[in-house]
Amino acid sequence: MIILTNNEGKSGIGMTAELLRDGRAGLDAVEAGIRLVEDDEEVRTVGRGGWPNLLGEVELDASVMDGSTLRTGAVGGLKGFRHPVSVARAVMERLPHELLIGEGAARFATETGAERCELLAEHSRKAYARWFESEVSAADKAAWPNVPLERYCHDAVDPEIGKDTTVFLALDRARNVVAGTSTSGWGWKYPGRLGDSPVIGAGSYADSRYGACACTGAGEMTIRAGTARAVVLYMKMGMSVERAVSEAVDDMRALKGGLISRVTIHAIDAVGNHHVVAVNGLPGNHYWVWTPGMARPERRACELVQISEGAPQSKRIAMQVYTDV
Ligand code: GLY
Repeated sequence: MIILTNNEGKSGIGMTAELLRDGRAGLDAVEAGIRLVEDDEEVRTVGRGGWPNLLGEVELDASVMDGSTLRTGAVGGLKGFRHPVSVARAVMERLPHELLIGEGAARFATETGAERCELLAEHSRKAYARWFESEVSAADKAAWPNVPLERYCHDAVDPEIGKDTTVFLALDRARNVVAGTSTSGWGWKYPGRLGDSPVIGAGSYADSRYGACACTGAGEMTIRAGTARAVVLYMKMGMSVERAVSEAVDDMRALKGGLISRVTIHAIDAVGNHHVVAVNGLPGNHYWVWTPGMARPERRACELVQISEGAPQSKRIAMQVYTDV
């Protein structure tokens, strides 16, 4: 057995480990852990309290994958619901589909009785108001929101340095490998932007025969490289989990134009080994892991790998002026 989660999974891993220790199914454990992170307002990139889009609305993405059936469920751009991961699981278990977006996802969430929630918290409302006041031109303020948003989108490079989506990977007692993700995505994103978290194969993938992978950071990069599926496929081809992740880092290195922001690749294999690499990560980037030999989940440092960057660091630092509330 193993449970692996990223830095932001801290508030959920204790519960996830307890459920796995009690012999519960990996998917139940992962969903329970992610729900706790979705409720944790200190996590500014998941669930309630996550950063809004350019219009000041919080749009949530989430997914689950069962590595034994290869069934998946995902939602993208879901507004107004407290636990997108549970809506994603309901997509997997109750519909013949794998991914619902926007209005359709909200309709299905309502149909299944999912709990509604005001997703903007005090800190995110304030941060958005400060950004709007300082960055939006007088003419655009007068016409808002009926203005072109493209220019504001390019100015809002991921404000959360060192903060992330949450991802959980588990191998349960019955040897099922599962993955789950949840995020509010890129702060100040263009409305409707989906990152990699609901895109199975990019932000997550699980196959009980080989292992699982999930990514955090700039989803645009892992969508282009098909990172999560690639890592699992590399393990199928006989590579160790370390080698598979390193191969995926090489795929990222081959992307033209460099990375627009950091990407962290988390992976486990089917016998409980794991490896985590933060591409363009910073000292202090870490993850959490629990295996049956541990009294409690342990915090570990990510391996750091530097490759070329596409977006100027100065833009990201500029956005922190607004998010530092
Ligand atoms: N990795 C999360 C996102 O890009 O939205």
